[in-house]
Amino acid sequence: MSHSAQTTDAATNPADYWGADLSQQVDCTVMARGVKMVYRMGSESIQALAGVDADIFTGEYISIMGPSGSGKTTFFNVVGGLIKPSEGSVYIDEIDIAQLDAGELAWLRCRKIGYIFQSYNIVKAMTALENVTLPMLFAGVPPDEAQDRAVDILKRVGLGERLLHTPKELSGGQQQRVAIARAFANQPAIILADEPTANLDLRTGEEIIALMKEMNTERGVTVICSTHDHKMLDISDRIMWMQDGRVKKLARREDVEITISKMKEEGH
Ligand SMILES: Nc1ncnc2c1ncn2[C@@H]1O[C@H](COP(=O)(O)OP(=O)(O)O)[C@@H](O)[C@H]1O
Ligand SMILES: [Mg+2]
Repeated sequence: MSHSAQTTDAATNPADYWGADLSQQVDCTVMARGVKMVYRMGSESIQALAGVDADIFTGEYISIMGPSGSGKTTFFNVVGGLIKPSEGSVYIDEIDIAQLDAGELAWLRCRKIGYIFQSYNIVKAMTALENVTLPMLFAGVPPDEAQDRAVDILKRVGLGERLLHTPKELSGGQQQRVAIARAFANQPAIILADEPTANLDLRTGEEIIALMKEMNTERGVTVICSTHDHKMLDISDRIMWMQDGRVKKLARREDVEITISKMKEEGH
């Protein structure tokens, strides 16, 4: 797909804005165009997204940074087809997801996208194995095969010895590994991870990030991950900064060294 048609208010120099060489042909798994989201609460309304344009390239690992309230979670929910934007469009593999009917949208959420949340969101009454098997059963994988695949992927995330443990018998880091295994279970094209390390200690957080990066590289899955964690920036291909519901900056990792060192100095 060509990027020649893309314009944005935020950019004086498009190459700076997109963090990409525009002459290169790159496939985009996700394209957001003019995405706005207004939440109405009684007589008040809150604009969580104020016009987001973003292209996310196939197979990249992109981190989304921004202060609390800048619209990261809302952006994830819109891209993930969990909420409908008030205005604008999201394209996944060039398909406008607003055009999908309920069945197609369910298929997209089940097969195409894997979700990882800050609070893990795995089913408390189920074992690690059941949690990872479940989305494959929803996707129509025969039970035996689903179980075999779940065992493989749980081994892959380092939980081969914890298959039959329930969440309360697992540490936070282990629960997040189950969530990662579940998110990757249906071989999605996209992983949406919303602050996946926020509830973890530093070392466990680093392990989780390393695991997501390995899976991104091994499987060629596009990973979109919101974070405050600088370790996560180090392994990203690109970084997108959000502020007040807009994309403030989108840059390649190698071009943001100075920004990151400055942020580290300032103790962010
Ligand atoms: N369901 C909701 N209803 C009303 N306001 C919301 C809702 N979700 C988020 N907001 C508001 O939208 C803005 C963006 O929130 P959010 O997307 O959660 O940002 P972030 O994830 O960056 O912290 C905030 O002002 C927040 O209070
Ligand atoms: Mg959030």
